[in-house]
Amino acid sequence: MLDQIKNLSQKLNPRLLEIHRHLHANPELSGQEYQTSAYVAGVLSSCGIRVREAVGKTGVIGELSGLGKDKRMIALRADMDALPIEERTNLGYSSSKPGVMHACGHDVHTTVGLGVAMILSQLPEAVLGKVRFLFQPAEEIAQGARWMIKDGAMQGVDAILSLHVFPSIPARSIGIRYGTLTAATDDLEIIIQGESGHGARPHEAVDAIWIAAQVITSLQQAISRTQNPLRPLVLSIGQINGGRAPNIIADQVKMTGTVRSIHPETHANLPDWIESIVSNVSRTYQASYQIKYTRGVPSVQNDSFLTQILEDASKESWGRENVKILTEPSLGAEDFSLYLEHAPGSMLRLGVGSENKQNYPLHHPQFHVDEHCIMTGVVPIAYAIYKYFLNSSSPNN
Ligand code: NI
Repeated sequence: MLDQIKNLSQKLNPRLLEIHRHLHANPELSGQEYQTSAYVAGVLSSCGIRVREAVGKTGVIGELSGLGKDKRMIALRADMDALPIEERTNLGYSSSKPGVMHACGHDVHTTVGLGVAMILSQLPEAVLGKVRFLFQPAEEIAQGARWMIKDGAMQGVDAILSLHVFPSIPARSIGIRYGTLTAATDDLEIIIQGESGHGARPHEAVDAIWIAAQVITSLQQAISRTQNPLRPLVLSIGQINGGRAPNIIADQVKMTGTVRSIHPETHANLPDWIESIVSNVSRTYQASYQIKYTRGVPSVQNDSFLTQILEDASKESWGRENVKILTEPSLGAEDFSLYLEHAPGSMLRLGVGSENKQNYPLHHPQFHVDEHCIMTGVVPIAYAIYKYFLNSSSPNN
């Protein structure tokens, strides 16, 4: 079966490059993936795959039943949205839209998802149960998975796979991670309310800027002194606003930030922990405060059974030397975690680094991929789907 998958992917490779370049040149922002989803639906339909459009606003679902009688359904999720970044790669197929760029590789994810769909639609004997392809919008704003799930994308799904490009490993290799892959990510807004006064007479005012500075410093120090150092926690204040003039004591400061953690207990206690620090500092200096703590997406926990299938499929496809077992999670966010509340799943890291060109990080205006990554991703994922059905030890069988 692996040989058949490899042969087909060789044959389809020119078409997949064409698809990738089309998607890269025509990026669309989160929630506005109208042309992308119409294009994806077109490719899926041309393979004889049943298509449902406008799932989760601008998402697309394709469903494929093969020749087998396995009742299980495995899903493959690919995200489709781009970022508000002005591309500076000088590629021949650079973004045609000013200020919008596929700088997170979601064009690659969509291409790989379509490649797997094309291969499996031509190999019905590889599909022993059902496969559902989820083309998701709005991952960058952490909304798309929620929208898709609300529209029934996970109904009947027993397992789910996904992928994300990874520029720090080369394009012919794959990263596999057992357990925690990404962090739980929440949003934080703090308002410190003081009292205005003359800059020359601070003792008659309550200086919100000074108190805000104490709050930030206390939060950062408290991470080091009150949080378990073996459980990662990052709190970054990314925005701060306050004050009216150089000689007026500011009465209000508003700051917003992001909070990343991995351990469930740390995550659960964050709102109380933050409030205790903000309230103690504010009270000490007679300020009042408001905190808005918004839960974002949970941490991605890769299922060991499915991760093993991805590891085996990757090693058989490209050799042990091209499969890296990743020893560390990332504190990035991924709304793939929301699907995992409905079924076990695993996401692999697809190497996209070029060997002879400088590589840039995700979300960089010069981010680019070595297009060999498409084949590197398509083969093992298609093969892993076949192997999933072969393997009877699945808890859902
Ligand atoms: Ni991304």
